[in-house]
Amino acid sequence: MDSPVTKPLAQDVVWLSDLHFVAEGLIQGHDPRLRLRAAIDYINEFHSQSMFCVISGDLVDLATEQNYRALKSELDRLLIPYFPLSGNHDDKTLLRQVFDLPGVGMNEFIQYAVPTEAGVFMCLDSQRPGSDAGEFCTKRMQWLDHMLAEYKDSPAYLFLHHPPMALRLPMLDPDNMENGDAFLDLLSKHQNVKHLFLGHVHRPICGTVRGIPFAVMRSTLYQAPPPVPAWDWDSFAPAAEAPNLGILTFSNGDVTLQYREFCKYEFGLERSKS
Ligand SMILES: [Fe+2]
Repeated sequence: MDSPVTKPLAQDVVWLSDLHFVAEGLIQGHDPRLRLRAAIDYINEFHSQSMFCVISGDLVDLATEQNYRALKSELDRLLIPYFPLSGNHDDKTLLRQVFDLPGVGMNEFIQYAVPTEAGVFMCLDSQRPGSDAGEFCTKRMQWLDHMLAEYKDSPAYLFLHHPPMALRLPMLDPDNMENGDAFLDLLSKHQNVKHLFLGHVHRPICGTVRGIPFAVMRSTLYQAPPPVPAWDWDSFAPAAEAPNLGILTFSNGDVTLQYREFCKYEFGLERSKS
């Protein structure tokens, strides 16, 4: 008798976000190399039968060729394929030079579709060069409009870095997608958009927008504090919360997301010198 337990793994997708990788040094007191290695070890041990891994932007903290090449050598340890997106910390030219991206995308943007039996995964580019805030320009809109129409009979799962709507995070919402309403207007035209998967704000949040479910993934590196108690950039300090990765399971048009703590908060944290 076939086991119903093992087969769904083929419909799993692993989700990482906001690696903020650097080849040397710490970011916000955390070691991004140790954190990423812990995530990769976890994926290879428990989720090597997943279809692939999507990384929803901010691959590096500082966009240099050295950082991207060091990151690629780490990510190439993954036993499953991986698909990177562009975040506000990324450089599209370097990202395209260093990584092997699917060929079905756009020339100017890191934007491509990954069709599977579970549906079509759209990896979108919400980066606005030189800005922490995001945008989705006319060319990217036209591409997405065309692709959603082309795959109109498949459930479409959209990954992008910048949330296209406010998330009730007063210090972070100003840096979301500036023309998010226009982006959502486009999605509302299509019946096959089933879920949005977002990064950028380094917090675990889910909900609906215009009736479309969305989820936001924690960073593998450091987390933004919750909005209450109130904080500002002068008083900013990462929340003492463990990182997560996501395991998405797609089955008969339904989606589940499990947030997984692949290491403790203290792992890769610089020890207090006091
Ligand atoms: Fe980030």
